[in-house]
Amino acid sequence: MRKLVHLASWFLGAKFLGRQAPLQTVLFINNQCNLACRHCNIYRRDSHLTKSYETIREELAYAHSLGSRFVDFEGGEPMLWRDGTHDLNSLIRLAKSVGFYSATVTTNAQLPFQGCEADSIWVSLDGAAGGHDLIRGEGAFERLVKNIAECGHPRLSVNMVINRLNYGEVRGTIEFAAANPRIKSISLNFHTPFPGTEELFLDWETRRRVIDEIIELKKSGLPIMNSVSGLNLMKGEDYVKRCWVTNFIMPDGSRFPECQGKSAGVCDRCGFCMAGEMHSVFSFKPDTILAGLKLRMG
Ligand SMILES: C[S@@+](CC[C@H](N)C(=O)[O-])C[C@H]1O[C@@H](n2cnc3c(N)ncnc32)[C@H](O)[C@@H]1O
Repeated sequence: MRKLVHLASWFLGAKFLGRQAPLQTVLFINNQCNLACRHCNIYRRDSHLTKSYETIREELAYAHSLGSRFVDFEGGEPMLWRDGTHDLNSLIRLAKSVGFYSATVTTNAQLPFQGCEADSIWVSLDGAAGGHDLIRGEGAFERLVKNIAECGHPRLSVNMVINRLNYGEVRGTIEFAAANPRIKSISLNFHTPFPGTEELFLDWETRRRVIDEIIELKKSGLPIMNSVSGLNLMKGEDYVKRCWVTNFIMPDGSRFPECQGKSAGVCDRCGFCMAGEMHSVFSFKPDTILAGLKLRMG
């Protein structure tokens, strides 16, 4: 109920009073990673940054003071995070004690994560027939499948980022997710060409074809999180983006009121599904509002 009231007042304030407060925070707790994915510009193999428990406490309090009530812990690889006796579960409990309604984790699932106390877990899955390992390194898919099978978490979804290397595997990846009893749903994003990863950007014509295929699969009943309205918007870049819905706190502690796509100058090639989903929510598209409520309230 608390969540619903907060969501309603946040939406009404944003829609009718022009308030721009974040609903959710992406908090990077490290940049250390156990993979070196070809599409990623966050991880560092050399000079690692790992935040302390106290720093994360301050950053959570700051995000909460802005109005954010949903936090996603990201990295690097969040499952690697430790500070003395504190581990990732300590951060999830900390977020709740600060006042967040839910704490989620985005992971590459290369380490076992039984007992993870996150409200939901997002596992990054970039293919089911070789594409995943091509992007993330040999053996990554096999470890992911094993760790998902053993995790026992009731609210696990996967997130695919579609690029020039894996666009031919979209159907197979969605079918893989649908057939895996541990996976609740799949969300589909496109590669956003941050500096150094431009060559993976998928041309617009292919993107439109892939989106039509995703919509067809969604209509056939497969568990795709994206709404049809949001997917249709992602076929082009000509819509208002409300990226202030999420604020970002980076591994080095820098704080951004919105996605760093803006400072990187890549919003015209944005592939993050939340951009389209948020536009559709603010345009009162019922399918997107339902998908959003399912995500936040489920
Ligand atoms: C930076 S990773 C960190 C968390 C974790 N190590 C993982 O692999 O899921 C978080 C998410 O960002 C996605 N991502 C990385 N680079 C991207 C890009 N250029 N465009 C879109 N999504 C990207 C990843 O696929 C992953 O789902």
